Amino acid sequence: MTALIVALDFASCRDALTVVDKIGEAVGVYKVGPELMFGDGVALIKELKRRGKSVFLDAKLHDIPNTVEKAVARAALLGVDFLTVHSAGSEILRAAVRGRGKSRLKLLAVSVLTHVGASELLLEHGMAVSVSKLARLRTTLADTLGFDGAVLSANELPLIKPHVSGDFAMVTPGIRFPGDAPGDQKRIATPASAASAGATYIVVGRPITRAEDPAKSANLFNVAIIGDNQ
Ligand code: C5P
Repeated sequence: MTALIVALDFASCRDALTVVDKIGEAVGVYKVGPELMFGDGVALIKELKRRGKSVFLDAKLHDIPNTVEKAVARAALLGVDFLTVHSAGSEILRAAVRGRGKSRLKLLAVSVLTHVGASELLLEHGMAVSVSKLARLRTTLADTLGFDGAVLSANELPLIKPHVSGDFAMVTPGIRFPGDAPGDQKRIATPASAASAGATYIVVGRPITRAEDPAKSANLFNVAIIGDNQ
């Protein structure tokens, strides 16, 4: 079963809500990222919740355990449904789980950012490890310590899925139809191939939010993943 999350990469709450209104019932989960968080992101999150939408706050937290714990607790208080935290060691992951407490907030791990390659890991981080091995290690650690899912590119899904719990959510960005502009995405997959590779959620931004008819575009993505839901 795969569902669609739409990434609202906008500078203002007003621009984001204009698109949310155009999309209407076709989408139930919206991702809010740093561009909005440094503007009126909190107002947008409250407004999305008021409209009955689920909110994925893509904060990609990476800090000392105490700071991560407090930030996660604030996000939970705000009513955020999904929050990203870097899988940067067990202390940080445990702090995030403490911060979530008894709230319904789902914690998603970021393993290795998709622009990072093996040569950067070796030459800039001193890590002689393949990207896929590191992604697997960081994702399985997050699963073991109580995270609910991870953000993974479609090509990592088959490598990692067999090693995590059955209910661990796989959230996959970099999704395009063959004719769509890739933008800055390097490793892209179609909605159907991500769904059949086991994505729990696909994350789509510009192909929907910048479309002439965002509701129509969202529905095309919904139809493409429905084939796999039946
Ligand atoms: O517009 P587009 O479909 O490329 O948007 C994808 C969204 O997913 C963006 O908000 C981007 O920040 C996010 N994302 C990503 N790749 C990752 C993690 C998050 O594209 N590895």
